[in-house]
Parts: sequence; structure tokens; C-alpha cells
Amino acid sequence: MSPEMTIRIFASARGVMDWAARTLVEVAASAEGRPVCVALSGGSTPERLYRMLAEERESEVPWDRLEVFFGDERAVPPEHVESNYRLAFDNLLSRVPVRAERVHRIRAEERDLSRAAREYEEIVRSRVPAGPDGLPSFDLVWLGIGSDGHTASLFPGSPALREERRLVAETIDPRTGAPRVTFTLPLLNAARRVQFLVVGESKSEIAKTILGPGRAGGEEPPAARVSPAAGDLEWLLDRAAASGIQDPGLIAGS
Ligand code: 6PG
Repeated sequence: MSPEMTIRIFASARGVMDWAARTLVEVAASAEGRPVCVALSGGSTPERLYRMLAEERESEVPWDRLEVFFGDERAVPPEHVESNYRLAFDNLLSRVPVRAERVHRIRAEERDLSRAAREYEEIVRSRVPAGPDGLPSFDLVWLGIGSDGHTASLFPGSPALREERRLVAETIDPRTGAPRVTFTLPLLNAARRVQFLVVGESKSEIAKTILGPGRAGGEEPPAARVSPAAGDLEWLLDRAAASGIQDPGLIAGS
């Protein structure tokens, strides 16, 4: 795990989202006027975060300075109900004054996903300033986790998970065979700050596997391999997701 890895357990999912929202405000404030590069998570968990940002913290974020990216995308059109872009657009991006030209959607509806991944990597490389290792370094990356330990669309045993050179790659969701495009570990681990948003009982087993005492042997789950070399890693869990790792000393937030 990253040298700066912190576990924060909150009494409720709202506490998780509030901490994440406040982090964006803080990261944007510390950027002192330069663009702030953020990668949004897909799945259902962040919907509450996006709504909270639009409805409760809209005035606190310098939206015109945000460069918005997506950590992964399903191979569907942007208006599709399963689109991660649509999730963010409906709940956040259509409701705040972010600049349209600074919202960078993965064109995962393209037939040639390898080309879509390469094109997205070029956008990332051109818009996200390089960190100490020369790779694009996001100011903030939000991630979720699946019960199989996947994160973004990095699934156990997948070639994309083993990718060491490309920053964005095409892949397949082994649960459905559905194609996707995803950030790879080199890009995730170049970030300045990564936050996992983990809520609900359904995530307690995988959270215990990754964060609990005496992790079992075997292949490390993909989410456990997110370890920013020069950045901060935070696991934000509600009490339900942390039931297997709860430590009274860790309870924080609302
Ligand atoms: C996706 C996400 C994926 C998600 C987890 C958790 O496109 O599905 O990138 O990694 O974060 O599967 O999903 P839930 O938030 O729906 O539990």
C-alpha cells in the first residue's frame, strides 16, 4: 500500500460523500488558480456524491477550473443508462458551471475500443500535468470497488490489469463479457490523491480482504494494487462496509 494510506470510517454513507466533497473543495483551493484535474468514478456509489456537490457545495468549487475525466467507461452511448458519463452528467455536470470543453468523455461507444483508449490517453497526456515520474498526475481520483476487488474497469486476471506501459486500455467485464475502457494502474498510481468510496454491507467482505488484519494469500485484488507512489491514498468507508475491519479508533465524520 501507498506510504500515505489512510482508512476513514464514517457512521453513514453521507459521511463518506461529505468527506469526498470537501476533499474536492480543498484540492481546488490548494491549486491556487491552475486547472484541477479530477477523474470521476463510475458505478452507483458516487451518484450521492455528485448530487451532494451539485445541491450542497456548488458555490464552493471553482467549476470553471476543473478538467473532468472518467476513470473508466462502458461501451455504450453517452445517453445510455449504464454510461458512467451519463451518471455524472445527470447528477452533476449538467447542474454546475463546468466548462464543456473541459469535460473529457471516453468515446467508448466507438467500434474500435483500442483506438478510443489510445485517443483518450492522448487527451490525458495533453491536459494533465506530469508528476515526478513524468506521467500525467491527477489532482484527485475517485474510485469504487466491486465485490470481486475490481476498481475502475480493472478486473482480476485481466490483461489491462497487467498493463505497465499504456495509461488507458480496452478491456472486458468478465461478469458480462461487456467491453469497457479503463485507466490502468500506471495512471492511477501516478495520481496525487486517490479516494476509494466504499459503502454498504455488500462491500464488507472485499473491504475486509483488502484492509482487514492478516489478509489472505493468493492474488492481490486489483483495488489493493492502487498505491500512488508519490500520492495520498484514502479508503473512505461507511460503518456497514467496514464491519469486518471496524476499529473504534477509526470512527470519524458524520
Ligand atoms: C464501473 C466502476 C466500477 C465501480 C464498482 C462499484 O464502471 O462500474 O468504475 O469500478 O466503481 O463496480 O460499483 P457500485 O458503486 O455500483 O457498487
